[in-house]
Amino acid sequence: MSQTHTTAPATLEVISHSEAETIAFGRRLGALLQPGDLLLLFAPFGAGKTHLTKGIAGALGVDEADVNSPSFVLINEYETARRGKPGQGRTPIYHVDLYRIETPEALATVGLDDVIAGHGIAVIEWAERAVDWFPREHLAIEIAYAGETDRRIVVRPHGTRAAEIVAALQAGD
Ligand SMILES: Nc1ncnc2c1ncn2[C@@H]1O[C@H](COP(=O)(O)OP(=O)(O)OP(=O)(O)O)[C@@H](O)[C@H]1O
Ligand SMILES: [Mg+2]
Repeated sequence: MSQTHTTAPATLEVISHSEAETIAFGRRLGALLQPGDLLLLFAPFGAGKTHLTKGIAGALGVDEADVNSPSFVLINEYETARRGKPGQGRTPIYHVDLYRIETPEALATVGLDDVIAGHGIAVIEWAERAVDWFPREHLAIEIAYAGETDRRIVVRPHGTRAAEIVAALQAGD
């Protein structure tokens, strides 16, 4: 996998050459996450959002085989191996897919408020469906087709916590 820093210093760009490399990048990212982190995924159909999420959740102790598209249920919740603050128990990871959401009214029924307000880690597929709705502090991840099995993954931090995550990725943590 090749990794370059683009002109905007905080933005990280990675080329994945295979499904396995996308999962591996997800694992690196997942290992850096903390309770409250919000990841918004922007990518066309079939680009690799769910496979990236498998790696993210896997690094947090979730069985990657259990992480599948939540298209029909909209939100899957998994318990990670991470402990939150005292009294919070294990940190949940919420895997959300907004593909089917076409109107603000439909969005209101999903239960995203609880996901965002909670102490879990959230990964949102098809964040395009609710782009103006999310808090300003988040990590945006774009995946674009760059060949048959090549994908360009661009990670853009919004806010100081997200910038910390990108800095750690750039440092090779
Ligand atoms: N470099 C790559 N990274 C990720 N997936 C890849 C790559 N190359 C090929 N693939 C294939 O692309 C598909 C990605 O599927 P995945 O479900 O992860 O996409 P998605 O973006 O979540 O799709 P959807 O829009 O339906 O939610 C898989 O079939 C996977 O094998
Ligand atoms: Mg998906």
